[in-house]
Amino acid sequence: MVTIKQKSDTYKSKTNTKAKTKSLNYRLGDLERSHMILWERMSTKEQPTKIPEHIPVLLESTLDLLKPKVGESYLDLTAGYGGHANRFLEITGNFDESVLVDRDDNAIKCLKLLSDKGVRLMNTDFVTASKQLIQEGKTFDIILVDLGVSSPQLDQSERGFSFKNSGPLDMRMDQSQVLSAEMLVNNTSAEELERIITEYGEEPASFAKQIARAIVKNRPLQTTGELANLIQSVYRGRWKKIHPATRTFQAIRIEINSELQLIGDLLPLLPRLLKSGGRVGIISFHSLEDRLIKKYFKNQFESGYEAELLSLTKKPILGSISDVHNPRSRSSKLRGAVKK
Ligand SMILES: C[S@@+](CC[C@H](N)C(=O)[O-])C[C@H]1O[C@@H](n2cnc3c(N)ncnc32)[C@H](O)[C@@H]1O
Repeated sequence: MVTIKQKSDTYKSKTNTKAKTKSLNYRLGDLERSHMILWERMSTKEQPTKIPEHIPVLLESTLDLLKPKVGESYLDLTAGYGGHANRFLEITGNFDESVLVDRDDNAIKCLKLLSDKGVRLMNTDFVTASKQLIQEGKTFDIILVDLGVSSPQLDQSERGFSFKNSGPLDMRMDQSQVLSAEMLVNNTSAEELERIITEYGEEPASFAKQIARAIVKNRPLQTTGELANLIQSVYRGRWKKIHPATRTFQAIRIEINSELQLIGDLLPLLPRLLKSGGRVGIISFHSLEDRLIKKYFKNQFESGYEAELLSLTKKPILGSISDVHNPRSRSSKLRGAVKK
């Protein structure tokens, strides 16, 4: 049986991403400039590694909600490729008291220019980072949590998150973790696979059962393409809006990365990381995430004198295509709170 958070130092990403140029239809801010500088530096030395583009989700709404001011400290618990972080730090100018966290070391490498300016980087999961910061007595004016996977993670086939560009069945956000999608898919019982697909993919039980049985019958599966084709072959009827494998991929990703468990562990730590008057914003991408956040905030807001947080968003702010420039983010929801 494989333990989810077993660590291995031996894993190294083997494949470099092929560089390709894309025209960007958004403002050339610090992030893009820093990517270009990094790209230039890298291309003179070693085999070029593409610095992925990542368009921040709900950027303007997050700025409106959290209202960063000059001199304020910023904690980004899911910094990714720094889209939000660059913009917030551009406004606050407080690099020395700000911290960026991500458990993906590819993302952390791309934040080097910010660390050169004095920002602290933490390459670990956000629960471990939060506990560490609480232990150090650190508090912040602004906290941002932008959940899920980044566009670069999805776009790089070698990361194994996507079935559109087939790659190895991987899906680990933290590449030093032992458990990968391949291990899960090829070693888990049909009953357990069915539970994961039903619970985390919100797939109807009958289809989840068929998928789980097909996986067990056709193992070993090695690539995201093989898994997607297998699910497609089990699916009867016409496709709706999404590929029939979408929910199973979401389910496996959530399981591999312990995503819901970590969100549940993070939420009660947030008030301890905020200064009085400090604001937190959380962006979620599917109902399983949003349900946890909604429930935690509701309990807080209804706790009367004991409440540590007050609501900043009566209703969640929804991502729209015109706001987020990113079709993946249509399902995004932003909720916010302020510390008393
Ligand atoms: C949607 S992206 C964030 C993008 C970022 N806001 C930006 O504008 O570039 C989510 C990031 O959070 C990271 N992540 C997800 N869950 C995490 C966790 N539990 N701890 C630390 N990082 C996490 C992922 O590796 C990914 O880089």
